[in-house]
Order: sequence, then C-alpha cells, then structure tokens
Amino acid sequence: MSAEKNTRKILITNALPYANGPLHLGHMVGFMQADIWARFQKIRGHQVTFVGGDDQHGTPIMLGAEKKGITPQELIDDVEAKHKESLDGFNIGLDNYTGTHHPENRRISAEIYTKLKERGHIDVRVIKQAFDEEKGMFLPDRYVKGTCPKCKAADQYGDNCEVCGTTYDTTDLIDAYSVLSGKPPIEKESEHYFFKVSAFESMLSEWKNSGALQPEIANKLEEWFESGLIDWDISRDKPYWGFEIPNAPGKYFYVWLDAPIGYMASHQVHCDKTGDDWNSYWQQGNDTELYHFIGKDIVRFHSLFWPAMLEAVDYRKPTAVFVHGFLQVDGSKMSKSRGTFIMAETYLEHLNPEYLRYYFAAKLGNNVVDMDLNLEDFSARVNSDLVGKVVNIASRCAGFIVKRFDGMLATQSAAPELHLEFANAADAIAERYEKREFSQAMRDIMALADKANQFIDEHKPWILIKDETKLDEVQQVCTAGLNAFRSLCIYLKPVLPNLVSEAEAFLNTDELVWNDLQTPLLNHKINKFKPLMTRIESDAVERMIEQSKESLEEVSNIDPASPLAKDPVSDEISFDEFAKIDLRIAKIVKAQHVDGADKLLQLTLDIGGETRNVFAGIKSAYAPQDLEGKLTVMVANLAPRKMRFGMSEGMVLAAGPGGSDLFVLSPDEGAEPGMRVK
Ligand code: MSP
Ligand code: ZN
Repeated sequence: MSAEKNTRKILITNALPYANGPLHLGHMVGFMQADIWARFQKIRGHQVTFVGGDDQHGTPIMLGAEKKGITPQELIDDVEAKHKESLDGFNIGLDNYTGTHHPENRRISAEIYTKLKERGHIDVRVIKQAFDEEKGMFLPDRYVKGTCPKCKAADQYGDNCEVCGTTYDTTDLIDAYSVLSGKPPIEKESEHYFFKVSAFESMLSEWKNSGALQPEIANKLEEWFESGLIDWDISRDKPYWGFEIPNAPGKYFYVWLDAPIGYMASHQVHCDKTGDDWNSYWQQGNDTELYHFIGKDIVRFHSLFWPAMLEAVDYRKPTAVFVHGFLQVDGSKMSKSRGTFIMAETYLEHLNPEYLRYYFAAKLGNNVVDMDLNLEDFSARVNSDLVGKVVNIASRCAGFIVKRFDGMLATQSAAPELHLEFANAADAIAERYEKREFSQAMRDIMALADKANQFIDEHKPWILIKDETKLDEVQQVCTAGLNAFRSLCIYLKPVLPNLVSEAEAFLNTDELVWNDLQTPLLNHKINKFKPLMTRIESDAVERMIEQSKESLEEVSNIDPASPLAKDPVSDEISFDEFAKIDLRIAKIVKAQHVDGADKLLQLTLDIGGETRNVFAGIKSAYAPQDLEGKLTVMVANLAPRKMRFGMSEGMVLAAGPGGSDLFVLSPDEGAEPGMRVK
C-alpha cells in the first residue's frame, strides 16, 4: 500500500516538436500524458528525469527563416522561447529543454554515425530526386505538387493525394511543379547515405515481444517486417539546415537522424547541470528505465530506426515507447476555419491550463485511439467534477474550521473508515496511473469524491453548527471532509499540480506525496480557504474559438508544407467569412498577351469608375479578343499580389478543370460594372 520500496531511475521523453511554428493543443496531448506520468512517478518516490527540446533542423525551418528574412538560428531561438513559454503555461514539468541544434547533439550524432559507418551499417548509393533548378535545391515530397495521376485532383502533394488517398512517387504526378518556384522540377542524381535497418529485424522482433510496444503498434511492426524492411535514407544534400555529415562535404544528416539523438543530448545537458550519470541511463545492461511518449504518426522512427540505431552502436533500447492518438475537436480534425485549430498560447489567454489537463486525463487511455475534445463536454465535465465535486468538499468544510475552531482540525475524524477507504484505493489507482489508464483513474477518483460529498450531505455540518452541544461533531465532520479532500489532492496531484500546490498552502502542509495517504491530518492548523478553482464560463471558450479563427493567417504563413498551412478543401466557412469577399461585376475593357507567360492573360477591368489590372491564368481557354467588352465577376478585395509580370489587383472567377475547359463566369445582361455580387 505504500510507495514501492525500490527507487526506480526513470528517464522520460516526449516527442520533440518542430521549431517551425507555435505549439497547438494537439502537441499538448503527448506533453500532458508524459508529464502526468512523470509527476505520478515522482510522488511515488522514484527518481524521474523528464527531458525534451525542439526539433530544430530540416527544410521547413531553413525556408521559414528565409521567408521571414532571418537566419535559421534566429528562428529556432525565437520559437524555442515561445515553446518554453507555452509548456510552462501548461505546467509541463520538464527537467531540461534543449533543442537539437545544440553542440552536444552535434557531438553525439557524429559519434553515433561514425560508429554506424565503421561497423558497416551505412550504404552509399546514387538516387534520383526532384530538383528545383531555380532554387538550386532538391525538393522533399511535400514541396512538389501536381495533379493526382489517379483521380486527377489538382494541387496534390508529391507523396499522396488527399482527395482519393492514393500514394505514389513524386515522378508520377501530372504537371508537377515546385511549391517554391512554381517551375516543373527536373530529376537529378545524387549520392545518398542509407542506414541498413533490415540487419536488425530479429533483434527488433524480440524487442517488440518484450512488452516495449502496445499491441496495435507491435502488429504494425509485424506488418512492416512482412513487407520487408527498406534501408533508411539518412542524408540530405546542401542547401540544408542541419549537421554536416563527418567526412562527407555537402551532405547533411536528415532531420530524423539527429532528432531522437536529441533526447540523449538534452539528457546530457541535464546531467552536466546536476552531476547525474548519463552513461548509467544509456549504456546497455543497466537497470534504469527509458520511456518515449510519441504520437501515432511517428511510430516508424521510434520503433524501427531508433532502436536499431541504438542497438547498432551498443546503447540500450527504450524500455517502452508509448504511442497516443491524435486530438480532434468537436468530433473532427482541428480546423482553422472553425476556430478549432487552437494554439497553446491562445488557450492560455482564456482558460486555466488545469481544466485541459484534467479533461485530457479524463479521456486518455493507454491505447492509440484519437481523442476528442468536445467543447461542451469539456466545460460540463470540469465544472461538475473539479469545481462541483472536488473543490466543493473543501469549500463546504473549510469555513467552519477556520471561523469556529480557529483553523484547528479535530484530534479525531468523524469518519476514520472513510479515510481508510480512501487510503485503500491507493494501490488500484496507482496501478491505473502506472498503466497510463488515466481515464479510469479519474473515474475511480471521482467516485471517491462522490463518497466524500455524500458523507458531508449526511452529516450536514451547516445544521449541526446551530446546536451548541454539537460543535465537536462539526469539527470532526469537517476534519473528515478535509482529510478526504486532502487524499483526493494526492490522487490528483499528477494531473493538477497548481491546484494541489494551492491546496497544500491552504492545508498548511509540506508537499503531498503518495505515502501521505496513510496518515490523516489531525490536530493541525489550516489556513484560510480561497476558492481553488472557478467554473469554466462558456464565454471564455467562445472567445478562444473566435481568437483562433483570427490567428490562423499568421500561422499558415510559416511554411507551405506544414500541416498548418493546409486546410481540408471540404472545410466549411462561416457566413461572416463569406461576407468578407467583395465580389463585383467587372467589364473587361482590355485583354492582352503577356510576354514570356504561357498561362496568363493581362486584363484591364472596369468596376464602375475604377480600373484594375489583373493577371488571369486563362490563356489556354481564351483569346484576348474573345474577352474584350465582356462582363465578368471579380474578387475586388483580394490583397494585391506581386507577380513576375507586375502587380495583380484582384482575381476573376472561372470554372472548370483547366486547359481549354475553363469558363470565365459571366453575369446576365443588365448587370453594371461595379455592382456588388451577393
Ligand atoms: N519533430 C518530430 C518529432 C521528433 S521526436 C524525436 C515531430 N514534430 S511535430 O511537431 O510534428 O509533432 C510533435 C508531437 O506532437 C508528435 O508526437 C506528434 O505526434 C504530436 N502531434 C502533432 N499533432 C497532433 C495532434 N493533432 N494530436 C495529438 N498529437 C499530435 O513529429
Ligand atoms: Zn487522387
């Protein structure tokens, strides 16, 4: 029933977020899950180290910096500061935060790679890849777009079609173009370095069966074995933002090579500060434990490549990799137009972080299923469980003790059996936490909170207090109530560190730990009670959603290949958003060819006294003389766009798949230039 006797040495990591944009609530799932687990292990008396950092390399960061006109170093420093602020805001108790561009990571990455090379695990081969001649760089799949070879949907990424779901090679795309220059990429050869993963299949198979992976992940691994392990391409050509490969000028480590090594580097930086022994965690054959919390999209890197790499250079493998599902909001993928793509900092401006910590805990199990943040349920659950049940116990009892008994708890409780019942739940709840069955743990804890409230309901101290002869009973009832509250605080401490720290101040105790469950607080002076948590107001949630709609512009500017930058085509927009579009009847007074442009016509449009210069990609369907004198519809308030041939001050509306099948919209007769289209 007490904390386990042997102190375990536990190293915990959560996936390192990319330094190419702010953290959103999806990122917080892993951070909170890892943090709750780490805090649980800490109050159980174990020696826990929880390290993290930003993933600071790769093409998106290089281009993101370029776009902002700053150096990659400036960008990653700036993002790191913001990430840290958000993580602090959510009370993520990381012991160290060091990004992957840190010199320690350069050192350890080089050391690991050199060993891999010496031991014959690296193959060098020539491959062909899409190359942007104008930009002078090889293009990752996400930077090539074109028409899907299967369903012919336009503007699909180079690796798979979001409309029909087909995966293909970049070279299969029809009319492929570089996202960076708009030009069709060429194919170019280059030498790449490969890590030969297949040599580690039997080791991985054994590791998979050791309980290191959740069943659904172990099955996934089995599937990968069956389809055959393919060598992993770990190099990228310059220009690239990352670490140059030792003895391979112009070749850089692919971001995913040094990213997980970042866990080691961050831990090294931590050990340098504390004097802890890094080797005792990473060398093979020691009894420390290593856990990685990650999302389901990055399983391959953590369950194939990473353990194989570690094994290849004689480091220990993870004790377990814990994979979580993705966050949805109100039943669907987070959406910028619905305002459900919520940034961590936006949330923090409006709501208490512990609301979300509790809600996530109440929804998280140890499986890989997606989790839904249902905003109505979120408010209802937090208000009823935390405010209505847990905090309520304290507020019902504290006043009497402070006002009538000078803050003194009685020397005995009115309900020692209630205290015992709470204490006896410790092992079961600990097991729930240990197995990351947080939702079940929260249910068990709330069932206890119900019991405490029932006890107070039955004894009605507010009635007893009116009878001078029952004062001892009031004190003992409230002492029982406050001890129940204190036990709940211990159980909830991993989830609600802020609330519990305020409760500790109110109860006038040292930091509560798991073992305190066994001994009640009696004959002890407590402090004045201040409300520990207030209800979620629906206004606050609405304001957060509104603000999330507004902040999306800025975020999607970061990088064309970031998932933040794309919104599903099917996403609906609000009427207000639609109403912002200023559609006008325009008369095409002049249409002409543009020197050097294969797709564009230059149009001069009259929108009732005002003329606009617009470049329209309709040359394949219209000759200039077909258009002159016609009426059409234009978007009049589109921000002017500088194009190679001049400034385009709006857009004409056209329909159709493209090529010669393109139809410029034309209003019926009677429409006048400048009329607003509604
Ligand atoms: N940089 C890599 C991880 C390197 S680890 C050595 C990466 N970064 S990420 O920023 O894209 O994602 C960081 C973590 O957040 C990953 O575990 C990812 O699965 C998780 N999530 C990102 N979006 C998420 C949701 N919408 N929901 C839940 N988790 C999500 O991948
Ligand atoms: Zn398709």
